[in-house]
Amino acid sequence: MIDLELFDAPEQTPLPAGVRLLRGFSLPWAAALISDIEQVIAAAPFRHMMTPGGQRMSAAMTNCGRAGWISDRSGYRYTGIDPHSTEPWPALPDSFLALARRAAEAAGFAGFAPDACLINRYTPGARMSLHQDRDELDLSAPIVSVSLGLPAVFLIGGLVRSARPARLPLVHGDVIVWGGPARMIFHGVTPIADGFHPGLGRQRINLTLRRAWIA
Ligand code: SIN
Ligand code: FE2
Repeated sequence: MIDLELFDAPEQTPLPAGVRLLRGFSLPWAAALISDIEQVIAAAPFRHMMTPGGQRMSAAMTNCGRAGWISDRSGYRYTGIDPHSTEPWPALPDSFLALARRAAEAAGFAGFAPDACLINRYTPGARMSLHQDRDELDLSAPIVSVSLGLPAVFLIGGLVRSARPARLPLVHGDVIVWGGPARMIFHGVTPIADGFHPGLGRQRINLTLRRAWIA
């Protein structure tokens, strides 16, 4: 017998103060986001960056916006120039800006003006280990993180690496915003399970919108 109550159950995972999960918030933008992602990757293709320790990251990445996050043997940092093309990163599409602003506002962070979007592409098996987003100069701004395509299990830890992370299942369209007291939380993604998403196929794409630089 199917337990119907299961489907109405409220979210089970209590989220730390400063973290908001906005289920399905990006769905009205999804078609625009996907076509804008295609434009961005035509100019700045996905690539597997190396960690400073020399490991190839399993998620492929690219960026758009004034600042783009990169990792290589010299460390983690934001650059204005894509090291592959030696051109500036593609501009932040209007769809990204509008969604980010609205999601931040819905989470209690009015006036969010991102200047950077890291685009992560996970194929089945790809993951992201627990880390903090700490290369931004403006820590007063939140992070807006958009999930598209295959589902994921997002790990939300605490302000120290040793805190045991909560597991938060995310699906296409979900948005998580963290900022204020949660701005420096550790977070990550467990290995993506194989599957097929009708819009994006065998992949998950995550948009991580940030304010990297001060005006
Ligand atoms: C990240 O922290 O950059 C990515 C998070 C995610 O893919 O959901
Ligand atoms: Fe992150």
